[in-house]
Formats: sequence, structure tokens, C-alpha cells
Amino acid sequence: MASRLSTALRRALADWIQVAGPQICSAALDLVELWSLKSHLAHGRAFTASKDIHHAALDTIWAATFGSTIGTTRSQIQLLRTLTDVEQPRDEELPASFPHAPTPAAFDAVMTLTNSVEYILSSPLPRLQHFFLRQLPSMRAAKNYKDTLIYESLEKAREEFSRSPDDLEPVKSVIGNFLRRELATAKKEERSPQYNTRASRDEIFGILIAGHETTATTITWGLKFLTDCQDVQQKLRRSLREAMLGPASRGANPSVEEIVQCSIPYLDATIEEILRCGNTAPTNMRVAKVDTELLGHVIPKGINVFFMSNGPGYKAAPMVVDETLRSKSSQEAKHKTGVWDASNVAVFMPERWLTPHEKGSLEFDSRAGPSIPFGLGPRGCFGKKLAYLELRIIIVLLIWNFEFQKAPANLSGYGARDKLTHQPQQCYVRLTPLKRI
Ligand code: HEM
Repeated sequence: MASRLSTALRRALADWIQVAGPQICSAALDLVELWSLKSHLAHGRAFTASKDIHHAALDTIWAATFGSTIGTTRSQIQLLRTLTDVEQPRDEELPASFPHAPTPAAFDAVMTLTNSVEYILSSPLPRLQHFFLRQLPSMRAAKNYKDTLIYESLEKAREEFSRSPDDLEPVKSVIGNFLRRELATAKKEERSPQYNTRASRDEIFGILIAGHETTATTITWGLKFLTDCQDVQQKLRRSLREAMLGPASRGANPSVEEIVQCSIPYLDATIEEILRCGNTAPTNMRVAKVDTELLGHVIPKGINVFFMSNGPGYKAAPMVVDETLRSKSSQEAKHKTGVWDASNVAVFMPERWLTPHEKGSLEFDSRAGPSIPFGLGPRGCFGKKLAYLELRIIIVLLIWNFEFQKAPANLSGYGARDKLTHQPQQCYVRLTPLKRI
């Protein structure tokens, strides 16, 4: 079960989502401005999008958590604004490159710690690897920076509350909401508030890590799918313009309210299909708390059970399961969700999430078929609502402002590693800013 602290943070996040839209929108518009500058300097070449998306995702979750900006994307914008031209490779099949602005120290600290998780996950001896990694001066510096930052942010938020304890203005950060809740609960329970503890600092850092890598990976997959499926991209853009006629006719960007409130079934379907096919978290894990049995297999207490969401039923034809082996609750739940058509289950196809409505229109159906990108139950994703909000705002503003064309074949593969450099494969985009009508 989630701890009391997790629950307090979950609620703080839920409160904050009411005011999160403008912060996310501002980070998304920074990305739009950066890519407009890059497309101008790239002279029609593709360029790597992965880092920019990561930066925008961290900008967003940072603003959410602390209520202040980290400014990673803005510092890159400021650098590119000073340039009239950048020398690019003669070969148009090669990606454009740009000078990099120095990243903020806070960004470097978070990235050092985030990247360390990958080393540990891929190590055959994770505990030992973790021990040695912790001794590295770069890791120690990053950890100290992070600890101090979160400690001071909590104290600063506490100070603000001390100055105006009865101020009922909405707090514009997860930390602020968390603190307000803890102060109120402590007062009610007649105890001293427990806000700046090791556990709360770790949970807050957990939000930063869990909330930026996942969203960035999902958006990156989204751009890859939408670039490779030009028909879907065009249909999505058409749906957005038809649903938000006001900004389309004014030649302006839609406002947060328009993006969030407009009913656009094809947008919902596209986001859900990006989550299904991108499969950012391909497994959910649970520990058996008692000796048990799953579909006839004996699972002893203490065993980690991995529930894969990238196999049969999700991205391949379903397996045949002996119905008598299912538990009663599983049998009862079976018909709550549809089944994917086995002939196209592996294809990126937002239409699978749309069902005809009696009035003739198409409606988004979140239970059209199996997909559990955010897990389930009390340990399900903490930031699911925030992630949907981010995906919606960022995808709308990117598709509204740019046409994404296919990058050259050597830059648009699906391999995990680049064949030549053996570096992790990047996501490249070739884009044209769309003229505002
Ligand atoms: C597209 C984006 C995201 C995806 C695909 C995703 C996916 C997941 C999944 C699959 C889990 C495990 C759930 C389970 O075991 O049942 C999880 C947990 C979690 N996620 Fe997300 N997530 C996303 C965005 C976010 C964001 C934006 C935040 C931050 C606010 C966040 C915070 C967390 C936390 C803190 C947990 C651990 C919850 C717990 O153990 O109680 N996630 N996420």
C-alpha cells in the first residue's frame, strides 16, 4: 500500500493539477520557439529532438514541483537567438548541429542521478554497482546538490506559510500544496508538522525522476509515430483546427483552456495509441505477499511477478487461456475491456480507440482494448493525470505549429543503438513551421 506520505503528496499533486496548465503551456511554447529557431538554422535538415524534449519535460516537472523555472530550454533559445547562421554539413542527409548553451547546475545534478539508475538496472550486480557509483565524486556532488536544493525549497515554502498562515490563495507548486496539507493535518492532530524529513525529500525527488523521463520518452515516441504515419499526423492537425476554430482563424496558438476543455476524440485516441505503442513502462511489477497461484502457476511468497504489457493481447494476438484457470474476479472483469483486432494489433492506429456514437459521430473509448501504461491500483502511477495534461498540451502545440516530415532513412530507424556510433539512437525531426492563416 502507498505510505501516508505518498498519499499526502498524491493529494498535493492532484490539487496542483488545477493550476498546472499555464506552467506546462509555457514550457511547451518554449519548445515551439526553440524548434522554430532550429528549423531556420537547419536549412531543411533534420536535427535531434530527444534532448530538447527531455529538457522541456524537466522544465515542466520542475515548475510543477518547486513553482520556479529551471530554464533549460530558455537558455538554449537565448543562445540561438544571437546567431544569424550556423554552418551545417554539406550532405543534406546528415543532421544539423547547433552550439549548446551550458545547462543549469540543477539540471546537471538531476540528470547525473537519473542516468545512474540506468547503470544500476543494466548491471548483473546492482547492489555492488550502486555502492561503487555512490563513491564517484560526480555522484556525491549531484546528490549533495539535490539534497540541499530540496531541503532549502521546503524550508522556503515553510517560511512563506509562516508569514501568511491564513492566506488561502492557491499554491502553485506540489511542494507548497504538500506543506499546506501537512501543516493543516498536524494542527488537527495536535502534533508538530513532519515536512522536511528524509522520506519527504526522497519522495519529492521521486516525482522529479518519475515525472520527466517517462513523459519525455512518450512524447519522443509520439513524434516518431506521427512522423512515420503522415496520414495520422494530418488527420490529427485537421481535428485540432476544426475543434479550435477560434485560434485557427485568428492565426494564434490555442489557449490552455481551449486545449484542455475542447472535446477532440481523435486527439484522445492519438495520445492513448502513443502510450500503447510507445510502451514507456513495458512492465508492472508486484511482489507476492503470500503463496499464491496465477493461471495455474504456483507463485511462492516473496517472488517478484512481472506483468508485461508489450506481449500477447497488447501488441500481438492474444494467447489462448484456459478460462477455468482464471480467478473469479478476473473472469468477472474480463468483459469490461474490449479485445484488439489480432490482424492489426501491432499497427499504430488511433482509430482503434474510436467507436461510433448513436448520433453518427465517433467517440473516444478508453476501454476499447487492453492497455495499462500507468499501472493500476494503489501503487498505480502517481502522476497519471499530470502526464495526460502534459501530453495533451505539448502534442497539441507541436502539431499546431509544425509539420513533421520524415527524416532521411539513416536518421529514422527504430534500433536502440546507432549502427555506426553504437550510441543510444536519437529521435530526429525534420520540420517546417506552419504558416498561421
Ligand atoms: C507518460 C508518462 C508516464 C508513464 C507512462 C508512467 C508510468 C508509470 C507506471 C507504469 C508506474 C508503475 C505503476 C504500477 O506499478 O502499478 C508509475 C509509477 C509512478 N509514477 Fe508514473 N508515469 C508517467 C508520468 C509520471 C509523472 C508525470 C509523474 C510525476 C508526477 C509520475 C510519478 C510516478 C510515481 C511517483 C510512481 C510510483 C508510485 C508508487 O509506487 O506508489 N509518473 N508510473
